[in-house]
Amino acid sequence: MKRRSFLTTGAAAVAALGSTGFVEAAAKSTTRDVEGKGLVFPQGFLWGSATASYQVEGAIHEEGRGPSIWDTFSHTPGKTHNGDTGDVADDSFHLYKKDIALMKDLGLTVVRFSIAWPRVFPNGTGTPNPQGLDFYNRILDELHANGIAPYCTLYHWDLPQVLEDKGGWQNHDITKWFADYCGYVAGKLSDRISHFMTMNEMRSFVEIGYGGGRHAPGLNVSRGKLAQVRHHAVLGHGMAVQAIRAAAKKGTKVGLAENCENAVPAIETPANVHAAEIAFREENAMYMTVIQEGRYTDHYLANLGADAPKFTPEELKIIASPLDFAGLNCYTATPVIADDTPLGYMHVKNPKSYPHMASPWLYIGPEALRWAPKFAAKLWGVKEIYITENGCSADDVVDSKGCVLDSDRVMFLRQYLTQLHRGITEGAPVKGYFLWSLLDNYEWADGYEKRFGITYVDFATQKRTPKLSSDFYKNIIAHNSLV
Ligand code: BGC
Repeated sequence: MKRRSFLTTGAAAVAALGSTGFVEAAAKSTTRDVEGKGLVFPQGFLWGSATASYQVEGAIHEEGRGPSIWDTFSHTPGKTHNGDTGDVADDSFHLYKKDIALMKDLGLTVVRFSIAWPRVFPNGTGTPNPQGLDFYNRILDELHANGIAPYCTLYHWDLPQVLEDKGGWQNHDITKWFADYCGYVAGKLSDRISHFMTMNEMRSFVEIGYGGGRHAPGLNVSRGKLAQVRHHAVLGHGMAVQAIRAAAKKGTKVGLAENCENAVPAIETPANVHAAEIAFREENAMYMTVIQEGRYTDHYLANLGADAPKFTPEELKIIASPLDFAGLNCYTATPVIADDTPLGYMHVKNPKSYPHMASPWLYIGPEALRWAPKFAAKLWGVKEIYITENGCSADDVVDSKGCVLDSDRVMFLRQYLTQLHRGITEGAPVKGYFLWSLLDNYEWADGYEKRFGITYVDFATQKRTPKLSSDFYKNIIAHNSLV
């Protein structure tokens, strides 16, 4: 397939391009005339992509993997779009070399991937399955051979089903089961992984999985039980941090990837900025705030009243085990203004007309990438921040030439990266950015209907085709600059 030139600039725009011709073409075109006037990122800024085990791997019965709650949930009629499951997904279990070649072609220096707990411990605890780690060893070898540094998430929601059968995150014992699993993996893989994230988005797997039931395990527990599940999640994180430190090579960095509620000032006045900062701390009270501060905010506990979680002072210390970095998954923003309320702020979002991407929840809020890292640094003194996820769904169309010209995703990314650049210029210590996602993949309850990749995947043939947004990202990486 010849790919059309997406460039219209320059006398000689470029004729027939190969499948990755855009960046080379850009170098010859007048696009480079603006070099130096673009938004240049700090030297050594890390550009990456992110994926997660259940969303890309497939091969759910291979090499000793045990069932996870997502296998059960997705196979339960009526739970996912079209009954879609992750049985095959992107088949990255077999096609990982192709995927790493795509990463290499983009020029990525880092990549975020996750390990499936049920591959390593098919029974959740007890005897490990050596073939589970063999698979990840193959991936690590291939990444290193291609000069890409792996950042590893230990829990991206695929809980072994046997543990859910024992109550899952409702059972206090899970904190130990999780820590044991994390310590085991870190002990085995920290020779080739410099950064471990305990969990991905506690807010999502707790609030959507145990409250509301749109995600696995599909429960809708009472308010008090949900508060306890949140507590087990943060405690499990803290215990895992300690287990990783005990088992991993000296110098291994430990953090997490969380989707904070990204309060931003609706209009930038000093009063609104202050209000947004208060909102950022309060609305993340049960996750990032307690992890960073070692206490639940007074407002959080008072609001829950008799439903407040049961915890000990010792547990709070464990939850706040020191971290080396914070990962922020940023998709959307919550605009607030200062107001005469007890907490001093109110939300202002016109729900009907607020613009969003293909996923109805994905309200466009590029300012999140400016303010969230600034607030995390200011409130808690975090010194190393990564944007561990950012990206969007789009209603991609393959055109008659086989191209996917996702200019809406390009628009989205450009806006967000502009705000990220602004935040960094203003002092936010962001060291790297991981785009979600390298590939279209299994989008949880939305199945294969919502596409988040910068690479189009034909799920019938597993053919991968880089989209326009992939060229856009490649160009940014090549120049470390948004031009
Ligand atoms: C999750 C991903 C998910 C993405 C888009 C994040 O909440 O970590 O697994 O695919 O957002 O919904």
